[in-house]
Amino acid sequence: MRILVSGGAGFIGSHFVKRRLRAGDDVVVLDKLTYSGNRANLPDGVAFHQGDIAEPADVSRAAQGCDAIVNFAAETHVDRSILSAEDFGRAEFRGTQVLLEQIRETGMRLVQVSTDEVYGDLEGGGSSSESDALRPSSPYSAAKASGDLLVVAYARTFGVNASITRGSNTYGPNQYPEKFIPLFVTNALDGEPLPLYGDGRQVRDWLHVEDHCAGIELVLHEGAPGEVYNVGGGDEHENIDVAERIVELTGADRLLLRSVPDRPGHDRRYSLDTSKLRALGWSPQQRFEDGLRATVEWYRDRRSWWEPIKSGEYRTYYERQYAERLANATSV
Ligand code: DAU
Repeated sequence: MRILVSGGAGFIGSHFVKRRLRAGDDVVVLDKLTYSGNRANLPDGVAFHQGDIAEPADVSRAAQGCDAIVNFAAETHVDRSILSAEDFGRAEFRGTQVLLEQIRETGMRLVQVSTDEVYGDLEGGGSSSESDALRPSSPYSAAKASGDLLVVAYARTFGVNASITRGSNTYGPNQYPEKFIPLFVTNALDGEPLPLYGDGRQVRDWLHVEDHCAGIELVLHEGAPGEVYNVGGGDEHENIDVAERIVELTGADRLLLRSVPDRPGHDRRYSLDTSKLRALGWSPQQRFEDGLRATVEWYRDRRSWWEPIKSGEYRTYYERQYAERLANATSV
């Protein structure tokens, strides 16, 4: 199979690329190389096009001869979407539309990688299933929902061969250190404060990146057109417990944990009903406790990967996001 992986230089995309290469697929990567795309995430020699999914010429050039597109390309960070939402709409709505036009013309298959955040807050309990209403809370999740809606509409109207996956909070090696786990791990290793939003009692369902990729692979091969598949780890934890575990695993001082003003619109809890994907034969293999320990080890050993990232653009973002919050921090 020849697969175009858009957003293939990012966190989940690059793991997916490496898995498909190991499985013997022919892989082509299309990536805009925005701040979080990183060629160092990819093996040498992989076919690579720098370009934008929102540009039809970039997509058709990269998609030459491919049987399928798996789309990871997105602006993915909720906090950045709150600081400035502009890029999110373009990547998600326009970008997804260009990909859909490409598969409509060529008959290729598309898997659109989406998120459990489109279902919104589940504070009251229960789990989201694929037919639930979309209630996004942030500009990020609203943009993701717009892409999902386009895929479903194109499948119904034009009969395109496209499916959607909705993954829960993903962690593992190579994750850009703006996200909760790699931010806390790298800050803990550097003796920097760990900024916990609000009361830290928000619940996330943690999914190892390899399990996430395995779910996407199954949907690529077995998923039905127009259908949505939840991919969740079933490992729900409060942020404060994850933060405390990171403190233990890194050997950092617990006083680094700081309670900072909350994220606006912060969803308290996500949880996914994954029975639809499990019926196809998928289940998560990695327990969060083991996966977190291995991830901490990876960041401990790979300063050469994340130290260069934590300068430059990252520094500017970090100051904007955290300087005032940390100035108003209290102990946990
Ligand atoms: O649920 C899937 C989603 O998971 C993906 O679609 C998103 O792309 C991904 O960013 C992630 O969204 P979250 O907002 O849940 O992830 P984040 O790592 O930003 O935050 C996880 C939790 O940790 C959330 O409750 C906010 C909290 N947090 C996060 C950061 C960055 C803190 O308390 N402090 C922080 O500094």
